[in-house]
Amino acid sequence: MKNYTYFDIAATTPIDSNVLEIMNEVNSNFFGNPSSVHQAGQKSHNLIEKSRRTMADLLGCLPSEIIFTSGGTESNNIALNGILKSGDHFITTSYEHPSILNTAKEIEKRGIDVTYLKPNSEGIITVEELRAKIRENTKLVSIMSLNNELGTLNPIENLSEVCGEFEVCFHTDAVQQIGKRKLGLAETNINLLSIAAHKFYGPKGVGALFIKKGVTLNPIFFGGGQESGYRPGTESVALIAGMTEALKIAMLNLNSNEEHIRKMEKEFFSKINQTSINYRINGGSRLHGFLNITFHDIEGQTLLMNLDMFGFAISFGSACSSGSNKPSNALLEIGMNETDAKKSVRISIGKFIQTENINLLVNAINKIITNHLKKDFNG
Ligand SMILES: Cc1ncc(COP(=O)(O)O)c(C=O)c1O
Repeated sequence: MKNYTYFDIAATTPIDSNVLEIMNEVNSNFFGNPSSVHQAGQKSHNLIEKSRRTMADLLGCLPSEIIFTSGGTESNNIALNGILKSGDHFITTSYEHPSILNTAKEIEKRGIDVTYLKPNSEGIITVEELRAKIRENTKLVSIMSLNNELGTLNPIENLSEVCGEFEVCFHTDAVQQIGKRKLGLAETNINLLSIAAHKFYGPKGVGALFIKKGVTLNPIFFGGGQESGYRPGTESVALIAGMTEALKIAMLNLNSNEEHIRKMEKEFFSKINQTSINYRINGGSRLHGFLNITFHDIEGQTLLMNLDMFGFAISFGSACSSGSNKPSNALLEIGMNETDAKKSVRISIGKFIQTENINLLVNAINKIITNHLKKDFNG
């Protein structure tokens, strides 16, 4: 796509060219089934185990604490279904990704009591809110580290500590954070953590679940016993190697990427503040480059469609609900009314964005809103 600029890295990221190169090489030369005992199989097996060691080093855990999955949704499902059984109490939040919220709905049907914590008006889950809801039979708490619609960061260190205090298992969906902002497993009391490679310039269809030593899950899939029995099925060696390379690159450049994106965000505000665009930013403590914005003079869906025609990708609500005119669930959960939520979009800035792209985006937004207001005025 020529002259098309992508401002939707929260939905997914383009694959890094180095990752692609490694995946092509692995696809060509590591075709053996990792479970086969012959040399071709062992070659694949060894690459998977090397990837596991590298991933563990980068995340600060043991290789045996990592299992490879097909992505964030599967990791979340394995974690929640693997821990909870009838009679248990489960705490999560009302603004999780659908892979948690819809799993929670299913779990409720099996006799598990679910409490949904509400984020405050800044889009944050507080320690006090969690502490107040823990019961004697609370078995699992699952709180996302970075909200996919608002970009707000939850105090995972403190939230996981509270769970440790009550000896409750703590899971975090860190799909939006890993590879963008450090989340040290060694410094927290996290028992389970979900990852997806396509959010850090890796391939789609691969992820990981960190399962802390000592935590045992009831498997939800049954098969040949791969990935400690939790995710049986022949592994995709290329996807696993690609994810590992993507994480390596992301961690190596974590600070410089964040700094660059912070600068781009600053450029965005400086440019937009020179116009008469009427807007507000939603959510408090955010990751840089993750902008949930209400443009008071235009519907989010209209802005998205027009920007797409101008050659810019942004998002309305979360990727899973785009295409519908449903406003973002996270905005409603932080107390925004439906009218304003429908006027809100998500603009997420990737590491490849430059000042020129920001200037062109703001010019396009300005043009679209000005024309829209003129049309409204002329009836
Ligand atoms: C917070 C969060 N969790 C889970 C997922 C699902 O990940 P995947 O697409 O790899 O299944 C996403 C993807 O949008 C996400 O943003």
